[in-house]
Amino acid sequence: MNARSYPTLHDCDPGSDDAITLLTLLGRLDVNLLGVSTTHGNAPLSATTQNARALLKLAGREDIPVYAGALTPLVREPVYAPQIHGVTGLGGVPLPSPSVPVKSEHAALTLIRQLCAQPGEITLLATGPLTNLALAERLRPGVLKEAKQIIIMGGSLENGAPRLGNTTPRAEFNAYADPHAFDVVLKAGANLALIGLNLTRQVQVTRARAQQLAAVGTAAAQTCSALLDDYLDRIGKLGQTVGALHDPCTAALMLSPELFDWEEAHVDILTDSGERFGETVQVGGEPNVQLVTGANEAGIYALVAEALRRLP
Ligand code: BDR
Ligand code: CA
Repeated sequence: MNARSYPTLHDCDPGSDDAITLLTLLGRLDVNLLGVSTTHGNAPLSATTQNARALLKLAGREDIPVYAGALTPLVREPVYAPQIHGVTGLGGVPLPSPSVPVKSEHAALTLIRQLCAQPGEITLLATGPLTNLALAERLRPGVLKEAKQIIIMGGSLENGAPRLGNTTPRAEFNAYADPHAFDVVLKAGANLALIGLNLTRQVQVTRARAQQLAAVGTAAAQTCSALLDDYLDRIGKLGQTVGALHDPCTAALMLSPELFDWEEAHVDILTDSGERFGETVQVGGEPNVQLVTGANEAGIYALVAEALRRLP
């Protein structure tokens, strides 16, 4: 596994599960992480960017560039998730202070530059609101088609029907946080895989899973375990005992697609104001996504644990 066979960009809003995704990528010898781009989302952009840099420091990989992106969504007001991730995005989990500054290039321009430099080669993992991707597409129409694949954590669909959201009764957080951007990306004609709540709820977060990661023993694994415990503490206050390992499913799909099932589908997002704002819907018509429908929970945790074992 020495060949860096997965040229990858990670657009994210860390966020505890974004953090686990990023560390999983960093623990893989076969991933060539070309950059981390950040967006508003779980916390304001300044916090998500700081978190991405701190995670790279934790992994001893400050050579990987961080590009800050969208401060706000395309149209709507920003919405954050302090009740799930804390006001700084990573709960109270301690991380080292980053020493390498953020790059001056805007994340959307980075996406354009990198995707155009290696057409058809790069997998783009998108684990936050899709504002940076939409900005890139608006600035350079067609650019998202240059990705080998874009794997998105967002939305929620089951057997063609919407399932309960996690932010409103109908909408998932990343979709709700910038539905207009989500719409731009769905319409870009790119090779999209969509991992919604219908999928991630099959990959449960429990105290036992947090302990499984802690037992790996590395600082990175113990940080991930602490992040899961913090997440369980927070959703516990909201009356939930079991969570979902959302964002790491994107990395797992890229690295081990045999752990998943999917089907071709046409998915739209509702952007009219009202109670269905941000809801994803499956409709007839030409497929525009691979809708991921099934996951091997134990296999995904094993993949994450194995990657975290290789980090400091
Ligand atoms: C998504 O929303 C965020 O809070 C998580 O990081 C994940 O990307 C789940 O709905
Ligand atoms: Ca996220």
